[in-house]
Amino acid sequence: MPVGMDGRLSRETDVWSNWLRNHRYGGDADYERNVRSRVAVYVKRVLDGAKLWPGMTLLDIGAGEGAVGLAAIERLGARLRVVFTDISPALLRHAEALALCAGVVTQCKFLLTSAESMSPLAGASVDAVTSRAVLAYVPDKLAALRQCYRVLKPGGRISIGEPVFRDEALAACALGQVLAARPPDHSDRLMKLVQRWQAAQFPDTLEAIAQNPITNFSERDLVRFLQNAGFCHIHLEFHIDVNMAAPAPWEVFINTSPHPLAPTLAEIMATQFDAEERRFFKQAMSPVIESGERVCTERMAYVTAVKPYL
Ligand SMILES: C[S@@+](CC[C@H](N)C(=O)[O-])C[C@H]1O[C@@H](n2cnc3c(N)ncnc32)[C@H](O)[C@@H]1O
Repeated sequence: MPVGMDGRLSRETDVWSNWLRNHRYGGDADYERNVRSRVAVYVKRVLDGAKLWPGMTLLDIGAGEGAVGLAAIERLGARLRVVFTDISPALLRHAEALALCAGVVTQCKFLLTSAESMSPLAGASVDAVTSRAVLAYVPDKLAALRQCYRVLKPGGRISIGEPVFRDEALAACALGQVLAARPPDHSDRLMKLVQRWQAAQFPDTLEAIAQNPITNFSERDLVRFLQNAGFCHIHLEFHIDVNMAAPAPWEVFINTSPHPLAPTLAEIMATQFDAEERRFFKQAMSPVIESGERVCTERMAYVTAVKPYL
């Protein structure tokens, strides 16, 4: 896994903004359209779960480019106020610019704060909380959900949509174990390179999986954390979608990564493959990637809950 795997901001880089604005799409307009249309479906589900109403204040945690909050304003119009929080100043500035362009900036507030702290927000100050693809990266998920509970008014709802990457990591781990058990002279050239690729993007030992915030939880843990934070009326929907991957040009595909903390395949090949391995890998894999003859599985947990009236 790359340096800076905790994803914290440094002066030099902001992994979050770089991924959301570059490595999610590999710099390709068609690929970007495809990703954005899938994200719009996730955002819609999160907003449906929040049960928005005019006049309310919505807090969107880890707002990124503002996908959830701006879609909420589009849905509800001028009578919705949205607080966007994030740990990335670059993304908050970008979301603010988008809100300005959309003519809705007076309805919005932008706060630099982590999900685990939320110190600028007073207790019982918002009517609903949303979060999409954020908790997966937060090391202390229970602390973040306790903050959500603190800032929500009694009766307020939380609606989250999180990717669950555990199975990807377990698959990388299993492949590593199978290859390690083969006799040394066994020819698994392609699979060894695939394993190197997977292990660079996901933790690939049981110990590393248990320690990494993106893989050390399941959808059921999200329910448990919400319960421990004090929420009631908890409802989980776990979606597994198995589809054929969209065909993508090789050069685009290798410049994408599956999550903000993973290096791109191009970076992995440059740093972990020698020239002959790069040539062999491209020859074997590019027809599969470019034809879309590849199964792609997405696992998303959607959870809603309510802060009880005590
Ligand atoms: C995959 S992006 C999702 C962005 C946005 N929610 C969306 O749906 O497009 C993850 C976001 O979480 C933010 N983030 C990561 N760790 C965070 C933390 N501890 N507290 C708050 N935000 C965090 C990142 O800056 C980034 O904007």
